[in-house]
Amino acid sequence: MKKYSVENLVDSLNNPSAVQRLKIQREILRRGKNQSTTTKLESLSSNKSLPPEVRVAALYTLKQLDGADANKFLLSISSDPQMQEHALRVVTDRNKELFMMVEGKQVPLPMDSFSNALKSENLKAKAQAIISLGRLPSTSLSKEVLSLTKRTSGQNTPKETINHANPDLERVIPHLAVRTLVQTDSTQVCLDSIGNDFSPGAFWALRYMHNDKAVSGLIQKYSSMPNNLIKSEILSTLTRLYFKEAIYKGDWWGTRPDNSGPYYDRQPWDQTNRIGEFLKTAMLSLDDKSKSELAKQLSLHKVPLNEPKLYSPSITKEENQKPIVIPIANSKDPNLIANLSFETTMERAMAVKRIPEKGKILFNSNTCSSCHTDANGLQPKGPHLVDIGKRYKKNELIESILKPDAKIAQGFETLAFTTKNGKIITGFVVGESAQIILLRQNTGLSLDLKKDSIDERTPLKNSMMPAGLVNNLTPEQLSDLLAYLDSLNGSPVKK
Ligand code: HEC
Repeated sequence: MKKYSVENLVDSLNNPSAVQRLKIQREILRRGKNQSTTTKLESLSSNKSLPPEVRVAALYTLKQLDGADANKFLLSISSDPQMQEHALRVVTDRNKELFMMVEGKQVPLPMDSFSNALKSENLKAKAQAIISLGRLPSTSLSKEVLSLTKRTSGQNTPKETINHANPDLERVIPHLAVRTLVQTDSTQVCLDSIGNDFSPGAFWALRYMHNDKAVSGLIQKYSSMPNNLIKSEILSTLTRLYFKEAIYKGDWWGTRPDNSGPYYDRQPWDQTNRIGEFLKTAMLSLDDKSKSELAKQLSLHKVPLNEPKLYSPSITKEENQKPIVIPIANSKDPNLIANLSFETTMERAMAVKRIPEKGKILFNSNTCSSCHTDANGLQPKGPHLVDIGKRYKKNELIESILKPDAKIAQGFETLAFTTKNGKIITGFVVGESAQIILLRQNTGLSLDLKKDSIDERTPLKNSMMPAGLVNNLTPEQLSDLLAYLDSLNGSPVKK
């Protein structure tokens, strides 16, 4: 390749192999900037008879080689439908090259290519234009971007409930538009649109705008808006802005993080008190319906308006817990697991037919329910057992109940926490927020620990699930219990 002339080298980019193209691109870049390479790359990328991947390779090489000097050409070629998406991406690829050189001076990039793409039928080009605009310092197209927060069907919200397994494609463009409004600080455009057709998109973006202008604007709009629905949107948006997310300190990782949102580590910022005062005053003149709506928002966002304390732990402890009692088995009854060897129990439990209905009663009466959930949608405790029948064979389940220490379920290791005043507390982690850790101990009771009171956490080898829980059952009853676990399928009301 080293022997190639520049002309031949650029021409050889027209190669069906992506690996070869990459090698050639590198060689071109290695040789450095030069007018004839630029001309050659420009004509290659403009050649409509070439395959698009070759043209795109030429575009990227050009930008890498010429930097901001390539921008003028890149914007002009964006009028070619095949290159539009790529050219717009390349032109804003580097944050330090977001300008054009005109007579030796840096001037801002002209906006017409972006504005055309926003109107394009080609959704990829449209999406790219929105993303690229998010990188530019200008807000001149913010209004157009805001208008794209509406769904293509013209609606503001999805028609059906969408879940993760069912992608919501119509949301992609509105979502990108909101991100761009936030990145470009388009606060004023959003405020101006409150009350018009694009109100929902404007509120959506304002929820992420933690700045004085957004707060002042929302407060001002509140008194001038006649519409009660809009007023209540303003209150919800201010509730969202009350806290902001803390700066990531690198210690937020846990196996069972608090995912109740919207912030993981809620922190007050310089508008928090002002928002609080405003919400308190607004609350006074609300009718009962709006008042309960606002109260709902405040509790969702964990905003403790009437408490001086800014933080409230977001993981709730269960009330009225009783410590579990390991049953004492009658030592004279030869049929009880307590009086049988592990092998005999295993053999007898494996041999019998199973009755899930009886097992369900045993699950609840043998304290399993203090540490395990057997239906979806319950407050998580220890390992969720809904799909346990799919994960384990019967003999493995028997082992995990009779010998809990033999294998420890991933993520439910026992931890010993040493507190700053020297206490040692052991348990497994049920939930972890930025401020507290919710533990469950082997008594089945839960306990919350303030994170800043902890000195050290050490993993232990034993399970927090006590051995002997099923000592006063017969192997046949154990088999019923297993049949119950096997019958679980995750439907929410199993109790
Ligand atoms: C004090 C709390 C506690 C009680 C009570 C309890 N468990 Fe457990 N259980 C745990 C913990 C913690 C683990 C995870 C550690 C381990 O694998 O031993 C676990 C693990 C399990 C596993 C394996 C789960 C997996 O994903 O690997 C099964 C099955 C199980 N328990 C069943 C039961 C049954 C049945 C009962 C009632 C007889 C019961 N548990 C009572 C705390 C408890």
